[in-house]
Amino acid sequence: MYKITLIPGDGIGLEVTAAMKRVVEASGVDIEWEEVIAGEAVLEEYGSPLPDYVLDSIKKNKIAIKGPITTPVGKGFRSVNVALRKELNLFANVRPVKTFKGIKSRYENIDLTIIRENTEDLYAGIEHQIGDYAGESIKLITRDASDRIVDFACKYLKDNGYKRLTGVHKANIMKISDGLFLRVFDEVSKRNGIERLAKGEAPNRVYADDVIVDAAAMNLVLNPEKFDVLVMPNLYGDILSDLCAGLVGGLGIIPSANIGEDYAVFEAVHGSAPQIAGRGIANPTALIQSAIMMLRYIGEHEAALKIENALKEVFDKGQVLTSDLGGKASTDEFADELCRLIRD
Ligand code: NAI
Repeated sequence: MYKITLIPGDGIGLEVTAAMKRVVEASGVDIEWEEVIAGEAVLEEYGSPLPDYVLDSIKKNKIAIKGPITTPVGKGFRSVNVALRKELNLFANVRPVKTFKGIKSRYENIDLTIIRENTEDLYAGIEHQIGDYAGESIKLITRDASDRIVDFACKYLKDNGYKRLTGVHKANIMKISDGLFLRVFDEVSKRNGIERLAKGEAPNRVYADDVIVDAAAMNLVLNPEKFDVLVMPNLYGDILSDLCAGLVGGLGIIPSANIGEDYAVFEAVHGSAPQIAGRGIANPTALIQSAIMMLRYIGEHEAALKIENALKEVFDKGQVLTSDLGGKASTDEFADELCRLIRD
């Protein structure tokens, strides 16, 4: 039996975590969920949206899965999500983006992963006000964090049988911060035996290249099938992963894993979607796919495959779909259908 920390989050978090739990249970894995609350709901009582008991639970169980948590815009407490990643040193954010044949999209064969550095860049929270006339945020890129994330991406590429490792940056403008990231990208990919292609060489082997972030955005829309693993600083990863979600059916689909040396926290890429919260219509696929990543992480490959096959089948049939994918099913009806297919 596994003991896993479950943070339901808020907004649609409550609905999608309930659906995810039922689907994982249907797969037959024996999990005891340790449910802990974070976010605005506990702010007054504990004086923090991320009380110590949340971190203590994850430190004890080593693994957590969470629903999205609302962050006030432009004021109020700092993001619980960013704080969790920093406190637990979850340095790698892994976001696989794949097409499901059954989901309508302009593309057919997308299979790429965004690896986003999770601890620094403009998310380090080093910002201050200069009187009432300016705000200054510092973009911090360090050698150590860049080395660690590129090294992680190299291993991910090899472990998952991908060929192309792309470093994404804006080193033409931010020559010092992104310039360092790009230099480290070159050093670390070489150290891992992933060399750039020679001029005119066909891409018939594992290789590295780099793309400026704006060109990456365009090429991801034009030819997403040509990318495999993309590694980048925090902010570019945040933006490009939402862009990639749009290529395969939207934010309701894309999962993620926050991985550190000691702990791992799995969550959907999407947020708490306040516009549709409480209506029972959110698509739980992103969190269910995050649970699949979690099951593989703990070695429960058979259960992961059962859920993955059920998702494929439900999309292929196209009869029980949530409204973001053009269907009429509720979150619960979608989860019921998955549970039925898994048990069959
Ligand atoms: P969002 O991801 O919540 O919503 C963007 C759009 O996608 C909305 O139209 C929403 O209805 C739709 N959407 C998202 N997930 C969906 C799902 N599962 N099924 C169907 N439709 C879905 O992004 P937004 O509105 O920028 O952020 C809302 C709140 O969530 C903010 O407070 C933000 O800080 C927080 N957030 C939290 C994250 C986390 O906990 N990891 C990640 C991203 C945002």
